[in-house]
Amino acid sequence: MKTEPVEADLLTQIDLDRLPQHIAVIMDGNGRWAKRRRLPRIAGHRAGISAVRQAVEACARLGVPYLTLYAFSVENWKRPHTEVKLLMNLLREYLKKEIGELNRQNIRLGVIGRIQELPKPVLQDLQNALDQTRQNAGLRLTLALNYGARAELVDAVRELLANSSRNGAVTVDEATLSAHLYTHDLPDPDLLIRTSGELRLSNFLLWQVAYAELWVTETLWPDFTQKDLFQAIIDYQKRERRYGGLGLG
Ligand code: IPE
Ligand code: IPE
Ligand code: MG
Repeated sequence: MKTEPVEADLLTQIDLDRLPQHIAVIMDGNGRWAKRRRLPRIAGHRAGISAVRQAVEACARLGVPYLTLYAFSVENWKRPHTEVKLLMNLLREYLKKEIGELNRQNIRLGVIGRIQELPKPVLQDLQNALDQTRQNAGLRLTLALNYGARAELVDAVRELLANSSRNGAVTVDEATLSAHLYTHDLPDPDLLIRTSGELRLSNFLLWQVAYAELWVTETLWPDFTQKDLFQAIIDYQKRERRYGGLGLG
């Protein structure tokens, strides 16, 4: 793959022994990107797909094991029906088109969210993509679809209680609750990226980002490239993570 000079320079600044193990991204700003170009919002979403490819490829290249992308929130149903419908179609298109490339890059697809509430055809394409990439052992790419962190916590508690009524006892501690989240087989994110400059979590992974490093860029999601991801990692590696302790001073 061709590496341009700026990208090569950024790459040399990354310590491959201290990569974030899990990067989570709030992909935001598609609508504003389109508006600036006097295009319909969906054109921004479409352009956002190439940024998804950039982020995925950058992680796969570096060897970051987990990447989680916030693609559709439980609150996003509030948008006009036409936008939601077009977003679902775009997702189907992505899932169908991308399987070959995901397999080529040894990427395993995963999903978090209330996916059973997604339209049937979307669910079928999703299931198909999950099945067809299941054997891959490289990057674990998780899409958050119809995802809300509060919904996830509610679902986790419901599952805990349902299990307890079967055997009579219920354990409530951090490990047990974590084990019932959609993300039970993912480590907590080390780095949370949000594009388009908004300083909020928008109901994304509230539990899991307790000690994630936050990195916000003004860049709108469709303009996001591998260079942005490399820069985020470089900045992340300069941070001191103290987890409430005193750190190294
Ligand atoms: C993010 O872009 C994509 C989704 C939420 C699906 P937006 O559609 O939120 O873009 P802005 O925030 O309106 O610019
Ligand atoms: C968050 O972006 C959801 C996704 C990126 C899928 P939104 O655009 O929906 O968030 P708010 O409304 O600005 O908080
Ligand atoms: Mg937005």
